[in-house]
Parts: sequence; C-alpha cells; structure tokens
Amino acid sequence: MAAFKKVLLKNMDKRGYTGLLKEYEKAGGYQAIRTVLGKMKPDDLIDVVKRSGLRGRGGAGFPTGVKWGFIPKDHPGPKYLCCNADESEPGTFKDRQLMERDPHQMIEGIILASYAVGAKTSYIYIRGEFILGAKILNRALAEAYKAGYLGTNILGSGTDLDVYVHRGAGAYICGEETALLESLEGKRGKPRSKPPFPAIFGLYGKPTVINNVETLANIPHIVNRGPEWFMSIGSPPKSPGTRVFSLSGHISRPGNYEVPMGITMREMLEDYGGGMRDGKKLKAIIPGGASAAFLTPEHLDVKLDFEGIAEAGSMLGSGAITFMNEDTCMVWAAERLLEFFHHESCGKCTPCREGSMWLLQIMHRMEAGQGRHEDLDLLLRLCGNIAGQTVCAFGDAEVAPITSTLKHFRHEYEAHIQEGCCPFRGKPSELVGTGTSHQH
Ligand SMILES: Cc1cc2nc3c(=O)[nH]c(=O)nc-3n(C[C@H](O)[C@H](O)[C@H](O)COP(=O)(O)O)c2cc1C
Repeated sequence: MAAFKKVLLKNMDKRGYTGLLKEYEKAGGYQAIRTVLGKMKPDDLIDVVKRSGLRGRGGAGFPTGVKWGFIPKDHPGPKYLCCNADESEPGTFKDRQLMERDPHQMIEGIILASYAVGAKTSYIYIRGEFILGAKILNRALAEAYKAGYLGTNILGSGTDLDVYVHRGAGAYICGEETALLESLEGKRGKPRSKPPFPAIFGLYGKPTVINNVETLANIPHIVNRGPEWFMSIGSPPKSPGTRVFSLSGHISRPGNYEVPMGITMREMLEDYGGGMRDGKKLKAIIPGGASAAFLTPEHLDVKLDFEGIAEAGSMLGSGAITFMNEDTCMVWAAERLLEFFHHESCGKCTPCREGSMWLLQIMHRMEAGQGRHEDLDLLLRLCGNIAGQTVCAFGDAEVAPITSTLKHFRHEYEAHIQEGCCPFRGKPSELVGTGTSHQH
C-alpha cells in the first residue's frame, strides 16, 4: 500500500502530545481561522467545503458544504451550529478519541463552520458517559477563550462566537439530529417529523446545522491545504478524504485507524486489524455500526467508501467495523443487536416501538431453538412493516441485523429450528423462559 500521511490523528500520534492549546498551535493549529475570519466571505468558505467534496462522517454521508448552503442568509434572528458528539452507535469510538486527544482540532472546525453559517452560539452535544471527554473539551474551550479564539471580536475580526458543552443522558436516539435538538431544548429526546429540516426549523425553531465531530475536525485541514488536496485523497470524486474507522470484534488489533477512503475491507482487516484472532476464520462483518446490514467474507474486496459499501448492500454509516469469527452464532448476534434497538426505541412511532418488541420475542424463541419455519417469513414481514415507516432512520436500523442475517445466514436459522437448540451452544433448557440472550 502506498505511504499515506494521517490527517486527523496525526498530532496525537506524536509521543507525549497532550492536546493542550500550545501543542495544537505548535502543530499549526488555529491558522485556518486566521485565514478565514473577517478575511473570507462566509459564502466563499461554504464554496471551499463544497469543492472539497467532504461528506458527513456521522452516518448519512450528506455533503457538508451543501448542508451549510441550506441555511437562509437573510434570517434576521439567531442561527446555531450543533456538533454531534453523541457517538451512540454501537462499535463506534472514533469521535471520543478525536475529542479527548486533540480537542482544539474539532473546536477550530466548529469556529469555521459557525462562521460559514453565521452562528454566534454553538453547542457540543456530548454523550453523557463521556465524562472525561466533556472535561477535556471544557478545558480546551477555556484555553480558546483565553487566547481570543472564542468570545467577542475573535482575533479582532469582528466575529463573535460562544461554544457550550452539553452532556446527554445516555439515550441512543439523541444521536439522531432532531432528537438531539429536542434534548438540547430540555425536552425528551424524540425525533421530529421532517420537513421542516433543521436548516430551516432547528434549535429553538431557528436555522441550525448539525455536524459530526469527525466532519468538523476535517474543516481546518481543508482550509489550510485547499479543497483540491482533499479531493485528491481517498476515493474521489464521491468519497474523498480519510476516514477514522473503529475496528472491533474477533481481530488481533482492535482500535481506531485513519485510512484513505477506498482501501478494501481485506486491507482494513489484515493490514490494520492484524487479521482474525487465534487463527479463526472470518464469518461476518458489520461495516458501519450496529445499524448497518451484515456483510460476509465474500465482501472482503469491497472498497471502504460510501458507494462500495452501498453496492454491497450495506452502509458505511459511522465507520465502525466489527469482524465476527466462525464460532459466532448469527441468530444470537442478530438477537443481541435487536435487544439493543428494542431497549433504545424512543417509542414515538408505533411500527418501531411495537415491532421491535414482536421481533425480539420471535428472536428469543428462535435462538432458544423453539422457532417455527413460518417465523422466518413472519420476521421478514414484520421488518417490511417497520423499515421506512418511521419518523427517523432508527426503524431501518433495527431491522438491518435481521434482514441481513436472514439473507446471508438463513441456514443458521433453519438449523436452530431443526435441531431445537442453538447449534453453537446446545442446552436449550437453559434458555427457555429466560427472555434473555447468552454469551458464547
Ligand atoms: C438513530 C440514529 C442515531 C444517530 N446517532 C448519531 C451519533 O451518535 N453521532 C452522529 O454524529 N450522528 C448520528 N446520527 C446521524 C445524525 O442524525 C446526523 O445525520 C449527523 O449528526 C449529521 O452530521 P454529518 O452530516 O456531519 O454526518 C444518528 C442517526 C440516527 C437515525
């Protein structure tokens, strides 16, 4: 593989880098805001980000510059920028590293994005469990205020910006952008019906941009090195740039790895993840967080970019890749994921709230070896009545583990029914009536 220089994780790779302001500045930090604030028109910055081809790293992959361009220019009242630091997608832990190890990179991105859309107040909505991350961010914000990078008349440019850290309370759904806004407003975190989209009716009903941590961390680099540079790395023109992938599962070297988009799944597993652990064979891959449909070893040569994974029938999502070995029961894996989604369903939409409960009951009996052949069609029918039938994409996410395991591993469901137990574990008596899943 050609030599590749990291972008987002570059500073933190240096021995002893603590992420304090003076170190970020020494590494070239806060130069981008000097280039932009008061010197470049906000529209020109939006144009730079559009030309870079940057797409959102939070899940949906929406073009960032285009999203910023939706904010009405003539809106008389306040506008807001929210940094989505909820990182609630199971398997994902890259935003945490970006926040804890190099917080100023993301804060500089927030300043630039706020300037582009005309926000004078911005919020970092951080997952409640990230206590250390919140502490580090607050310390970094205090440093930035002291240095004149935040507050009124930033660096004498006439630009004002205040940034606040807001800790969530542990609900997965609050990563969904409109549930995040509700939660930030002090209400129960439930997604809003769209339209109107947040660019028109966002926080407190005002135009609002919501961007992921990694998305925003890219902005200073795009300003410093130019949109053409960004467009030249990764998998242009549709998936340029790098991506920080969180690798987990039965592999030798789990962790966060920044790579150019477009390398293959095989390279990711072997060159970065160190291959499968204990000489076991690969059986299944979740390529983009728990919401993404399972792939199989047949997909090892698929490119890790937005299009490649979509063509393979899944999604790049949050960039969290989980590799599972030959000993994993795929019915059990789907059941565990569904338990998560059932628990986290916010309850607003009937198909998701009720459907996840029915799906889980069937999956419990299936894994216990008490399923029926007709359950397989029943599962698919239920999934079809949930996906696309809810206010947010949670409904699509919760059925993905079931539809994709039924597609690729239907024989394992059939084996559970035929053998009357989990073929990977046996002992159905221990499972009956417990209503809970088990560890392998
Ligand atoms: C159920 C659900 C959970 C989500 N969780 C997160 C999350 O934890 N972090 C995140 O950045 N985006 C999450 N998203 C995506 C956000 O709604 C939104 O698309 C994203 O923050 C936009 O930022 P981006 O354009 O920079 O990717 C979630 C979406 C859904 C439907």
